[in-house]
Amino acid sequence: MALDIQAIRADFPILNRILPNGKQLVYFDNAATSQKPQCVIDAMTNFYENYNSNAHRANHTLADEASAALENARSQISNFFGAKPENLIYTSGATEAINLVSYGWARNNLDEGDVIVVTEMEHHADIVPWQELSKEKGVEVRYVPINIETFVLDMEAFEVAVEGASLVCVTHTSNVLGIRNPIEKIIDMSKKSGAAVLIDCAQGAPHEKIKFEDLGADFIAISAHKMAGPTGIGCLLTTSEKIQQMRPFMTGGSMIKKVTTDGTIFKDGHEMFETGTPRIAEAIGWGAAVGWLDQFEMKEIHEHIHNIASLAGNEMKLIPGIKIYGDPNNKDSAGAISFLHETIQSQDLAILLDEGGFAVRTGHHCAQPLMDALGVPSTNRASFWIYNTKEEVEAFVKHLRYICERFS
Ligand SMILES: Cc1ncc(COP(=O)(O)O)c(C=O)c1O
Repeated sequence: MALDIQAIRADFPILNRILPNGKQLVYFDNAATSQKPQCVIDAMTNFYENYNSNAHRANHTLADEASAALENARSQISNFFGAKPENLIYTSGATEAINLVSYGWARNNLDEGDVIVVTEMEHHADIVPWQELSKEKGVEVRYVPINIETFVLDMEAFEVAVEGASLVCVTHTSNVLGIRNPIEKIIDMSKKSGAAVLIDCAQGAPHEKIKFEDLGADFIAISAHKMAGPTGIGCLLTTSEKIQQMRPFMTGGSMIKKVTTDGTIFKDGHEMFETGTPRIAEAIGWGAAVGWLDQFEMKEIHEHIHNIASLAGNEMKLIPGIKIYGDPNNKDSAGAISFLHETIQSQDLAILLDEGGFAVRTGHHCAQPLMDALGVPSTNRASFWIYNTKEEVEAFVKHLRYICERFS
């Protein structure tokens, strides 16, 4: 069944927003964060209006309701991702999830002489924690390059880099190029080399049904806010084996069995890694978001996004002076188009696009090593999601063409 985009749009109140200059919002900054459907907003409002309480502490009615909702969300979210609820650790987002692997697992299992493989297309969230670990422990960090003609990962270089590696950390989909990596192959090759694997699914989860146990990775990092959920929450999915090998990265209340002045006994499993007041409203909102997404086939969502992104890319290529970094026609492209104009500065271009109502991102996208590989300091990026339409893309291309003709 084809997606009914107008019905989907009706679920997102913000898409009716008229900007201060009277222009209708066209939101093309989805790789930074997606918009939220009404059911997510309602679920969070309902929590605050009717049963706001701390979770897993008191024994009154509201506390019981809040605790049940938090754990119900864990079941919904882990089920959506094909993972065991006890192997889902709530974090603030993908960044904290990757840091949890670095502090909780890698610091306790890797040492000088160990090798961590990352790629040049990683978000800083999947580079800086490994550089820090390298400084502290003397582990080697190997970077796999991209092919700058085709914008895909150099798999021959990956094959060389993975040799003798202990941990492989790769993004599912690049937030700059919009390209999905061959993660099944990467996981397979890494496992054959004896390496543990972390997949950064911050950009992958909004585009395809991530099935953790089927994929066979050891760790998956996800942010809720890029997939219709609220900001402030995400998770690390891991295995029963790996969770046993982890030590807590943050300590305090909730994660303890017993504290005396002599020391502390920690809880087991995911509870060891969730200290302090949980993200209750956020978990409830994320649960509502996966419930909302579950009414669609993720394949159809991806196909819709892919179609409008390739339409945008093909039209943008025809505008004199515009260069695209990536290949929106690649079947694995997931709707992010990085581009630059040869003379109009990227910041100026973004401001001129904003004047027309079009929200795009500008900057290095927290991927400076990739910018270095591309030989540019920053790009403009238009990124699309389920509620974007062909008409919005056509209006965008028209406005971009007008800017380029008028200002270059
Ligand atoms: C590929 C990728 N990884 C990690 C992150 C970090 O996610 P968060 O800021 O939600 O922790 C992002 C955010 O843009 C991303 O695109």
